[in-house]
Formats: sequence, C-alpha cells, structure tokens
Amino acid sequence: MRHLMNPMDFSVEELNRLFDLAQDIEAHPDVYAHKCDGKKLATCFYEPSTRTRLSFETAMLNLGGNVIGFSDAASSSASKGESVSDTIRVISCFADICAMRHPKEGAPMVAASRSSIPVINAGDGGHQHPTQTLTDLLTIRALKGRLDHFTIGICGDLKFGRTVHSLVNALARYADIHFIFISPEELRIPGYLRDKLNENGLSFKEEVRLEDVLPQLDLLYMTRVQRERFFNEEDYVRLKDFYILNKEKMELAKEDMLVLHPLPRVNEISVEVDDDPRAVYFKQVQYGVYVRMALILTLLELA
Ligand code: NCD
Repeated sequence: MRHLMNPMDFSVEELNRLFDLAQDIEAHPDVYAHKCDGKKLATCFYEPSTRTRLSFETAMLNLGGNVIGFSDAASSSASKGESVSDTIRVISCFADICAMRHPKEGAPMVAASRSSIPVINAGDGGHQHPTQTLTDLLTIRALKGRLDHFTIGICGDLKFGRTVHSLVNALARYADIHFIFISPEELRIPGYLRDKLNENGLSFKEEVRLEDVLPQLDLLYMTRVQRERFFNEEDYVRLKDFYILNKEKMELAKEDMLVLHPLPRVNEISVEVDDDPRAVYFKQVQYGVYVRMALILTLLELA
C-alpha cells in the first residue's frame, strides 16, 4: 500500500505515468466515470480549505465514488482530544482512501503510519503540499509540453508557503531548471532548502525586486503571504502587499511566460491580470481535479 506525503515519493517516471493518465482522463472522462464505483474517499481537514478539499471530492465523484469527511477540526473528535493516529484507524474502517490536511507538520505522516488505507497529505502546516505540486507540474507540462529547461521565478512568501517547498523539491529533479526566488528578506526560502539546492549543485538566485527579473522568466509562480503562520499581525500587515503583479509589470514579461498561483489569491495579483492569456491560475484548478483523479486511481491500484 502506498501513501503520498511528499512529491518525492514518486519517481520522475511514476510522475510521468500519472500525468499521462491525468491527460487521458481530461481527453476521455467517460472512460473513467465508473472506475471508483463503490469506493469511498474520506477528506479529513483540520485546517481551512476550499479548493483542495472540493477538488478531491470532485475527483472522487467524477470517478463514480462517494465522499465522507469533515472540513473543520472543531466538528471532529479532535476537539474532544482524539489523536490523529486513533482517528485514522477509525476512518480506515469507513473509507478506502483518505486525504488529510493538518496545521501540524508531519501529522499526515503519523496518520499514514497507523493507517490501513492510503493516506494523501493535502497540506501539513508550512511543510509540504504534494497534490498542489502535482497540479502545478501537470499544468506546466500540459501548457508548455515539457518540465525541463525553464527559468522559474517563485515570488512571495517562500518561508511559510508549503506549495513552494514541495514545488522546488519536485522541479529540482528535472534538467536545466533555474530558480529565481523573489521575496522580502524576512520571507526567504528556508535554510534547509537552500542547503539542499547548494548540495545538489542546482542553479538559483535570490532577489527582492520582481521587476528586475521578470523579463528573464519562462514561468512565474506567485504566492500569498501566509497570514495564519505569522507570529504577529504587524509583520503580516507590513509584508502582505510587498508584491502586486499588475498589467504594467506584465509588459516586462516574455510573451509566452505563464503565471501560476496555487490560490487563494489575496492582493498579489491584480484582477486586471486575469484576462491576460498568460495568466493560467484558474486553468490550474481544473488540472488539479484531473491529477487528483489520476492519483486516486493510482493509489487504489485501479489505474
Ligand atoms: C495553498 C495551501 O493551502 O497551501 N492553497 C491550496 O491548497 N491551493 C496555498 C495557500 O493557502 O496560499
């Protein structure tokens, strides 16, 4: 039995197969409409979410399965003091597969170690968000036709943004990827990630001004400042509008640069950018459903 805790749990070949399957699902949804008949997905969300939870649920419903779960720790037995290990043992009796989001780093991993069904990490604190990374990679592959030879700018809250940490790990495995990390000083990528990139001889630089590097980018990954992970509101207020991508700045970018964002967006991309054909963050949401369908089929060994 397999779980998904980290995008690195899948080899590059396995990811390729997963993305092929996701693109086949996109092309022929009817073929997959009953693949999960009689199966149940449990979504155990101890932290707020709109997209990820509904995307998982839509994925399972599109496959003919059913969904159970909770979307708030307060409405689960966690509020009575139940441990994640006990909850997953209970959920294992009800469902065939579980997607779990938790504010504590490592909680889905603890669950996986006690589970008799596959567990998918749907975001653990500021740590990892592997299914967002699968979504990001599928979007890039579908729209650019490849996952190598890119200069990618990753902009915003690189310290607390778990989607950033997962994406950097995953993209670092492809050839000729140049990372440009764009953030205020306080929100730079964590030291462990910088060390890992250095150890592996990967090409990256860190910048503060988005305008200075925009013309070099093939891909721009914007992120929100993660308010819920700040220790004080003052720092958040000072940093939240540090970057605002607008029409004027988009004029500096290549004509075929893609703008990605895991969403939710706050102020970091002005709504006037939404109509720009290079803005693909809403398309990304659709790819998220296909890739989660492919993941559910793969982990349930129904692919
Ligand atoms: C992200 C998350 O939860 O980490 N959202 C998502 O799942 N698409 C990004 C964010 O909250 O900023």
